Amino acid sequence: MALGRKISVVILAAGEGTRMKSDTPKVLFPLCGRPMVDYVLDAASCVNPEKIVIVIGRRGEVVAERVTEGWARDRDRADLVRFAWQPERRGTGHAVSCAMEQIPVCDDVMILCGDTPLITGDMLVRLFESHLSAKAHVSLVTAVVDDPGDYGRMRRDATGAVLGIVEAKDLLPGDGHIREINAGIYIVNKGILAELVSTLDDRNAKGEFYLTDIVEKAAQAGYAVNAFVCEDASLIQGVNDRYALAFAESRLRETVIRNLCLGGVAVRDPRNTYIDPGVTIGRDTIIEPGTFLRGKTAIGRECIIGPGTEIIDSQVGDNTEIWRSVVEASTVGNHVSIGPFSHIRPGSVIEDYVSVGNFAEVKNSRIGLGSKIHHHSYIGDCTMGSNVNIGAGTVTVNYDGHRKHRTVIGDNAFIGCNANLIAPVRIGKASYVAAGSTVTQDVPDGALGIARERQVNKEGWVAKRRQKLD
Ligand code: UD1
Ligand code: CA
Repeated sequence: MALGRKISVVILAAGEGTRMKSDTPKVLFPLCGRPMVDYVLDAASCVNPEKIVIVIGRRGEVVAERVTEGWARDRDRADLVRFAWQPERRGTGHAVSCAMEQIPVCDDVMILCGDTPLITGDMLVRLFESHLSAKAHVSLVTAVVDDPGDYGRMRRDATGAVLGIVEAKDLLPGDGHIREINAGIYIVNKGILAELVSTLDDRNAKGEFYLTDIVEKAAQAGYAVNAFVCEDASLIQGVNDRYALAFAESRLRETVIRNLCLGGVAVRDPRNTYIDPGVTIGRDTIIEPGTFLRGKTAIGRECIIGPGTEIIDSQVGDNTEIWRSVVEASTVGNHVSIGPFSHIRPGSVIEDYVSVGNFAEVKNSRIGLGSKIHHHSYIGDCTMGSNVNIGAGTVTVNYDGHRKHRTVIGDNAFIGCNANLIAPVRIGKASYVAAGSTVTQDVPDGALGIARERQVNKEGWVAKRRQKLD
């Protein structure tokens, strides 16, 4: 990137994550639907690195698989990412030494932790710029906080020059006042990194090779150490346990919702609304409480979404209302009304002015312009024309216990209540299906299909029966 300097990134992700109390590797815990490490990868790629080396350890094959099939699925990204194996967990310094062989020829190495998902590309770019303008050999991000907790503390001398980092477990009585913490984000000149890491030892409270010790070693050797103070400490939060994870997730959610609101979306109750990063929403759309918008979802303008709605990986047009309903992997048009209590399952296309009402389910179907599906209906594997009226309780019987079959319903057809349409079957244009029919044969255009027993009325039957019983 800048000034022709080449940088590579190392992401440390081999820790046991003991404090998560889980079999899942820590960096794979999700935040708003994506694993933590993906956010770190997003930020890392902003400095335009030569390579990103991810250090993996116990259950590392799971991490490698998830990254390869997820974040690095595209070819460019696949070429960018490499994995380095840390055979046993012997500390962050040891983890970096395990990565050294995988780092290509470059000037600087940026080191990140896989468990700081809120870091931003902007912050890393600014760190790199500050590293270059300070002509530093070692740069690191710090922040001043009220409660330094488990973070490493920055030791400085009276002039403010960095002396080193002391880990929380190794604090000496004189360190108690320090409020400046180490964020675990570094840029080190590559040659100097190799030299410093090779001199680390594990004589400390945890018996680990601390990467943090390179800062003191660099200062003592007379290398230029540059501390980049991050003004917003919440961005560098490390996630070591599930409480911190919940906290980080709510922080991320807050940012997502703030950006949407500033872009013209009305979010009625931000604390009770769950929107993944990457979801797009048009102006003047109202998001009611209890709504979850997940994955690659895009919603148009002037919609009302919620209360109590979940939309996953779906596109929704303008002026559409979806309340107390679930929509998955589907496309919904403009001026559509869905809900309450409806389920649009994957593979559905709901065209403009459609209304899908109370307790209706639609799966893998195309519903044409202006059609209406209300009251406890199930429409699965169906191609429906425009202005079709589906009566209460209508079911497309699409499954014969072995295979799925399609139902085709022409424009302007009227399906009476409680009809079973046994697929494969075709209901013609502008035809009628009588209520209560079990339709097993095609209904021609403009015809009435009746498939039910004729009614028989037995005159005087009640009186006769009573006489018999008396
Ligand atoms: C580390 C820093 C601390 C800093 C904090 C910021 C050290 C010694 N301490 O503490 O100064 O304030 O991060 O969040 O570096 N990892 C490995 N292999 C290992 C050990 C750890 O890959 O052998 C990885 C972990 O997966 C994690 C990262 O390194 O992503 C940091 O390790 P962690 O144990 O969480 O360090 P902290 O105690 O948070
Ligand atoms: Ca940590």
